[in-house]
Amino acid sequence: MWLTNRSSVLEMLKSIEWLGDRVRWINTLKIPWEEEVVESGDPERIAQAIERMEIRGAPAIGVAAALAVALVAVRSSAESLEELKSKLLATVERMKRTRPTAVNLYWALRRVESVIKGEYVSTRELREAVVREALSIYEEDIYVNRKMAEIGSKLLDDGDTVLTHCNAGALATVAYGTALGVIRAAWESGKRVKVIATETRPMLQGARLTVWELMKDGIPVKLITDNMVGYVMSRGLVSKVIVGADRVIPPGYVVNKIGTYTIAVLANRHRVPFYVAAPTSTIDYESKIEDIVIEERNPDEVRTVLSKFYVTLPNVEVLNPAFDITPPELVTAIITEKGLVTQPLEESLLRLRKQP
Ligand code: MRU
Repeated sequence: MWLTNRSSVLEMLKSIEWLGDRVRWINTLKIPWEEEVVESGDPERIAQAIERMEIRGAPAIGVAAALAVALVAVRSSAESLEELKSKLLATVERMKRTRPTAVNLYWALRRVESVIKGEYVSTRELREAVVREALSIYEEDIYVNRKMAEIGSKLLDDGDTVLTHCNAGALATVAYGTALGVIRAAWESGKRVKVIATETRPMLQGARLTVWELMKDGIPVKLITDNMVGYVMSRGLVSKVIVGADRVIPPGYVVNKIGTYTIAVLANRHRVPFYVAAPTSTIDYESKIEDIVIEERNPDEVRTVLSKFYVTLPNVEVLNPAFDITPPELVTAIITEKGLVTQPLEESLLRLRKQP
């Protein structure tokens, strides 16, 4: 009912869509075996989809959480402004508890929260303002990915082989992707790039999602296991690395999918440029690196292959941190929608903050 004008960019693969009184998403847990599309008008169902990783990837969870709050705005029967505000804020709090590491979630929810806390003359006015803000977050994500892709694709040369980790593609955003967006744009501009995708244990986002996306686009991709990175780099098979990020903290720490740090160390050892594609909504100027909560996920993710069978003894103790931290000195540059953040990253990040 309050859909904003849609651009032609939205014709491409979208992992999340707003249907006016429901949200539709691609269940990434089922990819590549099944292309299941789920629809729900229940914000709690969306919270669970984020927790289970049906919807995952830093930008995607931020957008989904904002749309979940918009559902309350559209569907709640609250009659007074006070009652509506309290229902909306309760949903904001619920969504904040879904996953702890990606800052885009909190960034999107903060935006929606500050709209909820504004002054309104009617519930209708508040409802419309909340939906408008959630849809702006949605639309901005598409624009920002396109912009990063345009900027980042200039870093890639014809014939490059780019290694990427996890899935930083359309399935981690609303559409197009961050790291995969850069690769896509280079490919679309005629550069014959190839991709090496790491499988990304334990949830296999690389093997399942990145491979699926790239093969759909006809971009050449080879899959490796995570422990092959050193070998392929030592053989000169990787020209550049591009990954996404869940949080970037000045002076340039990059919090991203577990395994990213190992790849950065190896890239440094083999003098392979290491790029991070991250929108400015992923940059966290407020937190300190020691305060970041690294999500510890269910140990069965490590004990099993996608809950299908055990690869070890069912009662073995495991560690399952979902993210790691790459220090600034290992990062060649960060590609944002406002431009490149180059070394020294700290100065460059501070300059970026002042940029409109
Ligand atoms: O646990 P996930 O699959 O949500 O983790 C996602 C990542 O770490 C991505 O690399 C990151 O969000 C960047 S995506 C644009």
